[in-house]
Amino acid sequence: MDQYALVTGASRGIGKAVAFQLAKDGFNLLLHYNQNTEKANELKKEIELSGRQVKLIQGDFNSNEGIEEFIEKARKLLNKKKDISLHTIVHNAGHATSSGFGDVNFNEFDQVFSANVKAPYFITQSLVDFLVPNGRIINLSSGVTRIAFPHMMIYAMTKGAINTMTFTLAKELGAKGITVNSVMPGIIDTDSTASWLHTEEGQENAKNMSALEREGQPEEIANVISFLASEKASFITGHNVDVTGGSQL
Ligand SMILES: NC(=O)c1ccc[n+]([C@@H]2O[C@H](COP(=O)([O-])OP(=O)(O)OC[C@H]3O[C@@H](n4cnc5c(N)ncnc54)[C@H](OP(=O)(O)O)[C@@H]3O)[C@@H](O)[C@H]2O)c1
Repeated sequence: MDQYALVTGASRGIGKAVAFQLAKDGFNLLLHYNQNTEKANELKKEIELSGRQVKLIQGDFNSNEGIEEFIEKARKLLNKKKDISLHTIVHNAGHATSSGFGDVNFNEFDQVFSANVKAPYFITQSLVDFLVPNGRIINLSSGVTRIAFPHMMIYAMTKGAINTMTFTLAKELGAKGITVNSVMPGIIDTDSTASWLHTEEGQENAKNMSALEREGQPEEIANVISFLASEKASFITGHNVDVTGGSQL
């Protein structure tokens, strides 16, 4: 039976790099996307050329209904396809708010917590019984949980919740042999950072932030996730791996 990995937010950025890497590692893929249907279909085609199976599932995680619909579709697929053995879940989908501390309203607060915290929590709760005994759950945290960025406060708070979920869930699921870890990216060159990172000032800021004096690439996060999903990481659980390129040391 071939093993599958579920990657949320796979249509772009880090999630896309994770999908490519896990396919190279031999996984078949359940790939989630939200608005970028075309990009998700292109990714599916490209990965299928390498001989791996890919199934796409759409879902908007900004609301309870969106999360529930996604879970229903995923459970239906997993129940129907008895040949799918789920090994890894990568909770990558997420977004920030565009408003700072003083401007965030209730709606924005709810949406960012919904996508970044509620979705990983309830997707895990609903799919955990499909995971194989040595399965993996890998969450996307962020360097903003240890470096204060007031204009990203709400987003940082969601990732703080993810760090807590990581070690607590590791304890909850350890007896099943399932490991739960998170990866803490620093500044990574994706759509979510492009608007400020691709400026002279942005480049200077990224250089000053990291001991390596540069921003990271999505593949550098995907490599760490690949390791955590592998047998080589069998005795690591409840850990948050700092992949910030030595930011603010
Ligand atoms: N880039 C960084 O510097 C950085 C640093 C630290 C942590 N991270 C974390 O790493 C993860 C990926 O970041 P990224 O930079 O690769 O992001 P990105 O390029 O903006 O891509 C975000 C992905 O998440 C999906 N998504 C966004 N909002 C969603 C929602 N409401 N419901 C469902 N899916 C949604 C998008 O789907 P569609 O495109 O299909 O709509 C897309 O696939 C996030 O959790 C982010 O917080 C990133």
